[in-house]
Amino acid sequence: MTLLQWKDQYSLGNEALDHEHKELIRLINAVHGEIERESEEDNQARILGGLSEILNAVSAHFALEEKEMQALAYREFPTHKADHEKLLDEICDLIETVEETAVRDIREGLSALLEAWFSIHFQTFDRDFHLAIRPSN
Ligand SMILES: [Fe+2]
Ligand SMILES: [Fe+2]
Repeated sequence: MTLLQWKDQYSLGNEALDHEHKELIRLINAVHGEIERESEEDNQARILGGLSEILNAVSAHFALEEKEMQALAYREFPTHKADHEKLLDEICDLIETVEETAVRDIREGLSALLEAWFSIHFQTFDRDFHLAIRPSN
C-alpha cells in the first residue's frame, strides 16, 4: 500500500521544487514498503539506507527552497527555515531510533511517523509559501 500520494493541488508552481517533493514522496513510499515487508530476513539495513537517502534528498531540497525564499524576500523565511531545521533533527532522531531498535519492535507507528514528518510541513509551511508567491491560487 502506498503511504503518500502526489496531488496536483500540492504543486508550488515551481518545477524544480515540485520535482523534489515528488521524489521525496517516492523515497518515503519506498521506505514504507520496506517497513511493511514482514520478512524473516532483517531489513533494518535497507530501511536505514532508505532513511539516509531521504535525509540527503531533504537536505538538498530545503537548501533549494530556502534559496527561493530568500530570492523572493519571503517574509516568513526565518520561521519556515526553523521548521526545516526541526525536520532535519527529527529525521536524524528517527535514523538513530532505527539503528538502536529492532524494526519488528517499532514497525507499528514508524510509517505513520514518516508520513506525518513529511506531510505536516508540506501542507502548512510549503503551502503558505505557495500561497504567498501565487496569491491568486
Ligand atoms: Fe519547506
Ligand atoms: Fe518543501
